[in-house]
Amino acid sequence: MSAPSELYGIQPKTVTRPTNDTPYADKYWDADKNRRELSSNGLRLVHTLAHSENSSPTPASEPHFTPHSGLADSHIVPVGKATNVKDLQPHRSDVNPAQWGVAALAVSEPFKTRSHKHKPAALRWDHRLSTESASREGCTLKAAFKHLQKPGMISLGGGIPLSEYIPFESLEHAVVPLNNTDGDKGSPKTIGLQSSKTDISSGNSVYDLTVALNYCQGSGSAQLLRWLTEHVELVHNPPYADWQCTMSVGNTSALDITLRMFAQPGDYVLSDDYTFSSAVETALPMGARFLGVEMDAEGLIPQSLHDILQNWDPAAHGGSRKPFLLYSVPTGQNPTGATQSLQRRKDIYRVAQQHDLIIMEDDPYYYIQMDKFDPSAENSQDDSTPKSPEALLEVLIPTYLSIDTDGRVVRMDSFSKVVSPGLRVGWVTSSQQIIERYKIHADVSTQGPSGFSQLALFKLLDEHWGHSGFLQWLLHLRKEYSTRRTFLANACDRHLPKDIVTWNVAEAGMFQWLKVDWRKHPDAKTKSAAQIEEEIWLESIGEGVLVARGSWFQATANKEYPDVFYRITFAAAPLDKIEEAVARLGEALKRSFKLQ
Ligand SMILES: Cc1ncc(COP(=O)(O)O)c(C=O)c1O
Repeated sequence: MSAPSELYGIQPKTVTRPTNDTPYADKYWDADKNRRELSSNGLRLVHTLAHSENSSPTPASEPHFTPHSGLADSHIVPVGKATNVKDLQPHRSDVNPAQWGVAALAVSEPFKTRSHKHKPAALRWDHRLSTESASREGCTLKAAFKHLQKPGMISLGGGIPLSEYIPFESLEHAVVPLNNTDGDKGSPKTIGLQSSKTDISSGNSVYDLTVALNYCQGSGSAQLLRWLTEHVELVHNPPYADWQCTMSVGNTSALDITLRMFAQPGDYVLSDDYTFSSAVETALPMGARFLGVEMDAEGLIPQSLHDILQNWDPAAHGGSRKPFLLYSVPTGQNPTGATQSLQRRKDIYRVAQQHDLIIMEDDPYYYIQMDKFDPSAENSQDDSTPKSPEALLEVLIPTYLSIDTDGRVVRMDSFSKVVSPGLRVGWVTSSQQIIERYKIHADVSTQGPSGFSQLALFKLLDEHWGHSGFLQWLLHLRKEYSTRRTFLANACDRHLPKDIVTWNVAEAGMFQWLKVDWRKHPDAKTKSAAQIEEEIWLESIGEGVLVARGSWFQATANKEYPDVFYRITFAAAPLDKIEEAVARLGEALKRSFKLQ
């Protein structure tokens, strides 16, 4: 039920755009003359390394995408809204080779493939930074590494081990060929992606084991950051000029760092009423509590968000200041599976503008948007199913980042659900100011993702798949998860007692959210919802199926939630086991409700 934004009486605020950068930014952007020019011009962006004088920026009114061709992508399938052959030409520019060295500074700016300078600069967030984040001055040792880019420099300055003392000489990652994801017997089973210590010096690659297995900046390596920056430009095209990316070690860590950048003890973080439990558990030890906002089938209701903020009374919340952090999982929400429509996102964004919120967009399921549910066909592909990378980009719901004209969104992407959770690689996209704060925190904490992971991803994404190959892989996952989702929904239909269990079939993500009408339970008069929830859960474990209890995901502490839910997933088990598991859950429910 999406309420039109007019209902909220929201007027976007008049804001002053920044003209000065932070002192740290000077240090940060000082890596070469071109970037010095950028820092001395404040946030007035000039394209330098990525855009030579004669490259023509895309006019603001021209909404097409201009992907690069990856190293192995001379035959790249056109992606995005490319409409003419010129859009298919490679858009990468030469970069200073020192960019690829050990611990080299890595920023997105030189890797953008077209100009964004016609867009407004992001707002500044000095008034929102936590004391911890505002007081970070940066890592002296990491900042000093920029001098290694100077030709002829001999380093006696950093404890960087020589490559000969790193015992890994070469590596091969065997990957599934894209044309063999369905087990095509005629195709090779795997393709080997090789790396050695000398790939850079021999000219075979811009990334090798010598660099990957040494220190790198908190941002991650420039090599992989280039691909990620291009990907963000292609898919999200943020509508402000100074957007940047930095790598994370996954969204769990990205949220931890982001919360520490903004939240102070006593603060409230707003979220869906049922939300990702780890997010709540990350905030709590920082002294920040979550406050759930009423939801419907699309997740958080904008009007309810507005009402909470409009009527905020610190005295009623233990003296806490009005919240300014919104945590959202907009696609295939964990745990409810809810997906916000574009209109819902726009409405929430307008509330965020009205109340000056920062939106923490935790979106690991963005690429698991599925085909329309058709119970009669386990493979529910139809005419609306995207069949090509371009078509996939057309059907993906625009993200908060894509509508963020202010730079108030901190978008967290992760490879966990679409390549591998064990890689521990994700990336964060936000304004230059926020990404700098993030990066200098990462410099003294995670120090970026593991070099093995970065190198494996670089080989796969940059040198092997390219952007179109990654999108083809996502198409494959979409098909697989659509089938699994439909299978699970049909299994629920077959086995669950429908007079007490109801559900909306998920359109995205990995979860199916089941509502159990506990008031029909024979003990409903003598037991609480929580007690009955536990009883059913124990009963199902007794039957041999583990499901997640809805109460684990309640955002607001010390609130009595009126309903009973369970979260089940179609991601974790083979199809025959899913059938068996849902049948067991059905048995547990029937036994608990004495329906047998
Ligand atoms: C909403 C949400 N955020 C973050 C994560 C964890 O992501 P990562 O593996 O990137 O840390 C999950 C995983 O279940 C999730 O559902």
